[in-house]
Amino acid sequence: MPDLKDISWEDFQKLDAASKAPYFLREGHLYHVLYAQQFGRAGLEELGSLATRIRFIAKSDPGMAFLRGLLPFKRAMLYFTQPSTRTFLSFRSACQILGMPCGDVRDTATSSEFKGESQEDSVRTFSSYFDLIIMRSEIGGLAERMAWVLSNTDRPVPIMNAGSGKDQHPTQALLDVYTLQRSFEERGGIDGKRIVFVGDLARGRTVRSLAVLLANYDGVTLSFAAPRPLQIGGDILEILQARGIACDVGEDFESRISGADAIYMTRIQDEWDARKGDSARIDTSRYRLEARHLAGMKKDAVILHPMPRRDEISTDVDRDPRAMYWRQMRNGMWIRTALIAGIFGRDRDIHDHEIEDR
Ligand code: NCD
Repeated sequence: MPDLKDISWEDFQKLDAASKAPYFLREGHLYHVLYAQQFGRAGLEELGSLATRIRFIAKSDPGMAFLRGLLPFKRAMLYFTQPSTRTFLSFRSACQILGMPCGDVRDTATSSEFKGESQEDSVRTFSSYFDLIIMRSEIGGLAERMAWVLSNTDRPVPIMNAGSGKDQHPTQALLDVYTLQRSFEERGGIDGKRIVFVGDLARGRTVRSLAVLLANYDGVTLSFAAPRPLQIGGDILEILQARGIACDVGEDFESRISGADAIYMTRIQDEWDARKGDSARIDTSRYRLEARHLAGMKKDAVILHPMPRRDEISTDVDRDPRAMYWRQMRNGMWIRTALIAGIFGRDRDIHDHEIEDR
């Protein structure tokens, strides 16, 4: 088994994603969760079925008591130095469901980074007190770097990437896949479906991770509708093309609505603008889903959004049964519970647990 402590950071950086993935396992099991390329189809199906199992167990008080007894002696650190509502709260809820106490740093103004401490030393400090570090950072690749740093200390702990720069957001993509699995359960699953991504696809890390995960499914078509400066990165298209995935890239959104099985809307990520106001100069008015579009959608299509939204989905779409974004965010709590339980080897106990009649 390759181990991160046996390779220099420089040599590790030279590896491609597929060669890196085995370094993030421990005894054949998932340990660090850093990017989407780590997940194959079997892993996605397994995680989805574990999340569903947890969801059913959690419906009763005795079930909740069972779940809360799974990890009471492990502690989790939430290190979120970028704003977050759903990812932070659903991770914290996931820990609470499993009985795991949590600590957090949400602003470096309140931690010793303010005094000039490096992120390396901060994360090493967290690993002294906690058994899992869940981190969000505006720095792309930081979670991966921290996984390597900790592997070379005497207290390595698993790291979960809860959003890194403009790069990846693997756990969001996992909950998005879970939402699609559930939505298409009675329609042959995700295989063969057409997923249309809309909005800021250049800087939307959730789209980048989700596109990579969807490459695990047969016969899918991924369609990317965005203004040219915000179009999906060539690196992602290369990954998709190498996997033989049909891709459709263009500027027009409306003409792509009627063929979609899922429409994945995103917000303009203007916090990344090189100069303030750059995004405002791009015409994004045609990348909004409004009530008038609903009649043109397939009857059983679904509408997703990683949230937060601004005006790209008008609120009168929320009442439509195809609007799946509220369920999608709740799925985040279940999939993160499943991930954490799996990392600490409690997946078997969950599968073996008998669900009593309510
Ligand atoms: C996304 C993110 O932070 O990348 N939010 C989330 O985690 N659900 C999307 C966004 O901020 O637009």
